[in-house]
Amino acid sequence: MLVAALLASASGAAPEAKARARAAHTIAYDDYSYKIDGKRLYVWSGEFHYWRLPSPSAWRDVLEKMKAGGFNATSIYFDWDFHSSAPGVYDFTGIRDVDRLLDIAAEIGIYVIARPGPYINAETDGGGFPGWLSTQKGRARSTAPDYLAAADEWLSRIDPVIARHQLTDGGGSVIAYQVENELYTDTPDGHAYIRHLAAKAKADGITVPLVGNHKGIFTRELDIDGYDRYPQEFDCRHPDVWSPLPDMAFAHKKGEPLYLPEFQGGAFDPWGGPGYDKCRQLTNGDFEKAAYENNMASGSTMQNFYMVYGGTSWGYLASPGSVYSSYDYGAPISEDRQLTEKYLVDKRLGYMVQAVAPLAKTAKVGDATAAGGAVLTRTRRNPDTRTVFTVVRHKDVNDKSTDSARIALGGHRDIPVVVAGRDSKLLVADYAMDHQRLEYSTSEIMTHGVVGDGGRRHEDLALLYGRRGQAGRTVLRYAARPKVTMLAGTVRQSWDAGSGDLRLDYTHRGLAQVLVEPRGGTPLRLLLADDATADTFWRQDTARGPVLVRGPELVRTASYAGGELRLTGDTDRTTPVQVFDGGRATSVTWNGRPVRDGRLPGPRPVTLPRLTGWRLSRETPEARPGYDDSGWRTAAPAALAADNNGFHAGSVWYRGHFTGSATGARLTASTGNAGEWLVWLNGRFLGSTRDASKAFRFPAGAVRRGQDNVLSVLTVNMGHEQDFRANDTHKKPRGLTAASLEGSGRRIAWRVQGGTLDPVRGPLNAGGLYGERHGYHLPAYDARAWTPVTLPRPDRTPGVSWYRTTLPLALPAGQDVPLSLVIARERSRHYRAQLYVNGWMVGIYVSDLGPQQAFPVPPGVLRTAGRNSLAVAVINSDAHTGGLGRITLRATGNHAVPPALWVGRSA
Ligand code: GAL
Repeated sequence: MLVAALLASASGAAPEAKARARAAHTIAYDDYSYKIDGKRLYVWSGEFHYWRLPSPSAWRDVLEKMKAGGFNATSIYFDWDFHSSAPGVYDFTGIRDVDRLLDIAAEIGIYVIARPGPYINAETDGGGFPGWLSTQKGRARSTAPDYLAAADEWLSRIDPVIARHQLTDGGGSVIAYQVENELYTDTPDGHAYIRHLAAKAKADGITVPLVGNHKGIFTRELDIDGYDRYPQEFDCRHPDVWSPLPDMAFAHKKGEPLYLPEFQGGAFDPWGGPGYDKCRQLTNGDFEKAAYENNMASGSTMQNFYMVYGGTSWGYLASPGSVYSSYDYGAPISEDRQLTEKYLVDKRLGYMVQAVAPLAKTAKVGDATAAGGAVLTRTRRNPDTRTVFTVVRHKDVNDKSTDSARIALGGHRDIPVVVAGRDSKLLVADYAMDHQRLEYSTSEIMTHGVVGDGGRRHEDLALLYGRRGQAGRTVLRYAARPKVTMLAGTVRQSWDAGSGDLRLDYTHRGLAQVLVEPRGGTPLRLLLADDATADTFWRQDTARGPVLVRGPELVRTASYAGGELRLTGDTDRTTPVQVFDGGRATSVTWNGRPVRDGRLPGPRPVTLPRLTGWRLSRETPEARPGYDDSGWRTAAPAALAADNNGFHAGSVWYRGHFTGSATGARLTASTGNAGEWLVWLNGRFLGSTRDASKAFRFPAGAVRRGQDNVLSVLTVNMGHEQDFRANDTHKKPRGLTAASLEGSGRRIAWRVQGGTLDPVRGPLNAGGLYGERHGYHLPAYDARAWTPVTLPRPDRTPGVSWYRTTLPLALPAGQDVPLSLVIARERSRHYRAQLYVNGWMVGIYVSDLGPQQAFPVPPGVLRTAGRNSLAVAVINSDAHTGGLGRITLRATGNHAVPPALWVGRSA
């Protein structure tokens, strides 16, 4: 159990041992925005589920990536199911240590929107309800007393943790608390239920605003009730066809900012779906830019994107109707923690909303069309500063033509802009940009700030960008003609003495640099980039002010020690680096080492071992008539289902004993989408099915007259349904539900066996296969006596067999090499495989459904320096086509990272 030990030692001090500085902050809000300590905040948030990433040091990795990419907040569902294996039993240790999660968020400096349910949906098992809740009588998500008591039990555990991390009075970074999730039952009982939960939160010490995701139904009970929206929906098969972008202004309620608790950041993909690459294309950077700027044009100042990092529904976390093991979601950060094109687009927008403060308080000016109706402009203005924001795009989101239009930007008319295809631009006019007056620009602002020593030697720095090859114009106003120096690139200047306008015209290509020095004023260093060049910039805010760093793949942190600028981050190759900080830094370090020649080292190449040395063991003794099931639970005929017998995850075995002369049996089972069940009589395989109900004919001579006969049924269950409509669908049973003999009036006496609790990995890691019950998947299991085999390997034996091998790794320290296990897909073979790495079930493969073949394994679960155990449980569902395909190890990246990033490495 080395992994367990590592996790435990990495989980840090007990919460009560930590003295928290209780810095009291205030949170307020009005029609326009959130305000923290009186200062307006544009909440730019990304959804993240810690429970889909069973590796606390990878939590830090992802949250740092989010922060570095311009997100100032993260929205987190807390999954009741993930923490509770039985009534009254809760686990908040190791990978369930949410105190530690919230500590990490606070350390990194990212705000948290906490969403503890009790119901969360999220394409997860039971929508977040623990399995044990599925046998409750009272309707869930209502005021039924048994349900409320259970919900209160969970909230009594999770609320104090959240309360300890509130920005207001807890010394952490939680700024909002969501009550329930998408309860669309606008009934007296629905209101009473939400009132109960709101009162409970307050009684438990929650002082941050209570927010909702309920289409504004609970405005009386909650502070800010929001609407979620997924305009592209979830069918990723036609990824180039967009749906119209919604104007979310309709959801703006008086006295509250327009909060979008979930706006589409990707899409989930079901069993047999087209795969997440297609979902990422459907919701690509162009979509995100157009949709999120459109939300700004509708006045939203609180946008959370679902998902920004999706992760993995490892073990039995997936809800079967919705998703397979990967919850990559086509999100900006992929399942294996890689930054995608979408991330870079979000970074530009996130930097902008944080730099351009007047955006947090705007009122609608109006929408207009130009270029013969093809180009839409949507305009807002800040009532105090008069700064004007204009979003420009094609009216028809599927219009791929290039149009030139003349539009108004603030007080300026007839400004030429180009809209090519799915371009969307948020253009700013009449803006006091630090010490300058920006009349308007047809480039977009990525970020700006004051750099230098904070005293007399300082300058304004602004980074603007546009599509490569498109013309751009930036107009700044001065009392007298400033000195203008072209430092790089081609920029034409003209000066209008009448208006005082300095006009700069250029084409976005690479990076142009202009130094504008107003007489007696603060100089401006203007960086004019094409979009791809803009993406190579990172902004970090230090105690001495902002710094821009150009070049690295990722800049995680920056700080100054005297004149030394200390940067941490990632590179995937040798990378030139350039610092823009107004000359503050006299030297630079990167991941603790001095930077020489302006270059950062890349990672060392790695070679991965081939997966060989497989050994095989067949199991399925439960199918044999003589198997001793006397230790199994007796199941009442009316309560055969798995949850009734205390088994809430994965496969469950049934053995039904009967005597007499039956000719067949009619069995009914409910395993969930992509599940299936297999049946034997006295050791003879009768077949398998995905149907709900099936009559199995007993072969002649199979029944032993007058003796004990045994029907063995393996139900391969795929998790509980969600309860999206609040009608108790999570209670749909799993396992065998009904059975009767044909040709005989006798009853069948059933015994049932499922999985037991893994104290480290939790209740959703493993089910009740023989091998799971006997630790075949665990790292310490000794498989030396198993039969050596090579893969691929056809196998005609129905039932379960196990394959094991070891994977020694020696990845260089200070590198992040995300690894996936990949199964070669052979559609002709009908089998399923459960993959275990060091005992952790990292995914389920179903050969004839797909689409998932690659299963990322996060560091922490995977020991990157040392020995790993791999185990694969293969379920052959017929007697002709089973087996196991070739399995390979694939690196999906190679990055030099800060050496301190990973805890839990061991040699
Ligand atoms: C939302 C829900 C989320 C998730 C999402 C789709 O309606 O609130 O929990 O299910 O849909 O991924």
